[in-house]
Amino acid sequence: MVKDKLNFTNEVKRRRTFAIISHPDAGKTTLTEKFLLYGGAIRSAGSVKSRRSAKYAVSDWMEIEKQRGISVTSSVLQFEYDDFCINILDTPGHQDFSEDTYRTLMAADSAVMVIDCSKGVEEQTKKLFKVCKMRGIPIFTFINKMDRMGKDPFDLLDDIENVLDIKSCPVNWPIGSGKNFKGVYNRSENKIEVFNDGNHGQSIAKTITGDLTDDKFTELLGDDLHEQLKNDIELLDIAGDNFSIDEIQNGNLTPVFFGSALTNFGVEPFLKSFLDITTPPKARPSNLGDINPETSNFSGFIFKIQANMNPAHRDRIAFLRICSGKFEKGMIVNHVQKNKKVKLAQPQQFVAQDRVVVDNAYPGDIIGIHDPGIFNIGDTLCQDGSGLKYAGIPQFAPEHFARISTLNSLKRKQFLKGITQLAQEGAIQVYKRPNIGLEELIIGVVGVLQFDVLEYRLKNEYGVDVSKQLLPYKHIRWIANEDYDTSNLSLTMDSMLVENKDEQPVILFQNEWSIRHILERNKDIELREHS
Ligand code: G4P
Repeated sequence: MVKDKLNFTNEVKRRRTFAIISHPDAGKTTLTEKFLLYGGAIRSAGSVKSRRSAKYAVSDWMEIEKQRGISVTSSVLQFEYDDFCINILDTPGHQDFSEDTYRTLMAADSAVMVIDCSKGVEEQTKKLFKVCKMRGIPIFTFINKMDRMGKDPFDLLDDIENVLDIKSCPVNWPIGSGKNFKGVYNRSENKIEVFNDGNHGQSIAKTITGDLTDDKFTELLGDDLHEQLKNDIELLDIAGDNFSIDEIQNGNLTPVFFGSALTNFGVEPFLKSFLDITTPPKARPSNLGDINPETSNFSGFIFKIQANMNPAHRDRIAFLRICSGKFEKGMIVNHVQKNKKVKLAQPQQFVAQDRVVVDNAYPGDIIGIHDPGIFNIGDTLCQDGSGLKYAGIPQFAPEHFARISTLNSLKRKQFLKGITQLAQEGAIQVYKRPNIGLEELIIGVVGVLQFDVLEYRLKNEYGVDVSKQLLPYKHIRWIANEDYDTSNLSLTMDSMLVENKDEQPVILFQNEWSIRHILERNKDIELREHS
């Protein structure tokens, strides 16, 4: 018994569950691959991408994805490194950016932000960062592609601080860049890690330790670069933010690492440092207070539902983040929102490249459970009958809107069924114009590809052809005032009032300017960015 408890505690303590966020092409996939390579989970780089194509080749409704050669769904990978059990949550980018991408961040305990040194902070990173900040999770920055010419490192720090509004503290500092990149200086260990282009990280980077003023550094770097390094470090020591583990763990300070994922430079020191500083799963807020992961009562919440992973069965997989207790295959748990008992019979886990049936899992882990259509995003499952409910997952603001209607009015029932199910999965958000029938709906999505997925799935799974008219709205605000009388609302030409599925009033806007205008015209109104 005592041994079991110790083993359980140890399993929780060695878990690290994080999301990788970045703008497309910054190097997220390459960095993930290098992590897996160090963990021994893959044998050669390139496997993650080939895994994607292999998986989707057998997936039917992902035909769209095959055509476009991009991935619609976010994946979860587990691997071991140095006694840690690591869960990486991938956040898809490109056109396949969707609400799922945001939701994935609700299941992570920390985030790694990859930035391209020649681009700085880009649009998608900004959006994802906002969600991480909202949750107060620690954010680690990896500035990638240092083997290429990039922006001045001080400008990159300014960019992080100004655009993202977070303090930063470089853990290491680049020496030169592009063709002249010599390596990085590790500030806490007074050590230079020497960049060796051409060997793609096959051997451990050579390091030279010593005082910054040491002559051996001049020999290695030459007068100019050595002088510049000394000046840079002096400036950082005087004017930069101090390294503080507490500040990092509270999400107020991001430690910054420079490196190059492609050439494998700085990846392992980053991983080691990251694992050292991040925490194991922490207590999660619920209606019964904060739930400690080490309590024996199993619990977790569903953050993502993916349909038809197996087209032969039209099944749905619900992704569950375990928050407390030990999971055992076949266990019977309470589905709190439905007040129903559910047997978790064939739970799956995503270990490196494979999907496997899992016997046991622990807080921090993500498991996929079969969903016969009973789960919703945000649902809580728990072992006891306490009625524990984890804080819900917000609806994130869609950025694209379209008017969708059935082409065949006899198919109205199937149309509504399809739309309802897709909304339940969280693929789309549905709005209705007041006083207009259900044949025509306004659909909001976070990523524009979701419209194609919607059309494709309505046709293939529900036999419904639809017409789609894209609308020019870009922003959405929920009216926060309770019982607001919308008949007095003064709207602009470029805004539209709709109702969400709970018949609450919501306004769509074409631009930021019209949001301000409406706030000025309707002094008593309060608008919220999230549901
Ligand atoms: P993403 O998942 O964030 O979208 O980026 P991904 O890792 O796919 O990397 C995007 C491109 O950047 C890839 O090149 C990749 O090889 C390159 N890259 C990643 N890390 C580094 C780095 O440290 N230095 C340099 N110089 N390049 C890097 P690609 O040509 O688009 O794809 P591929 O043909 O190499 O796969």
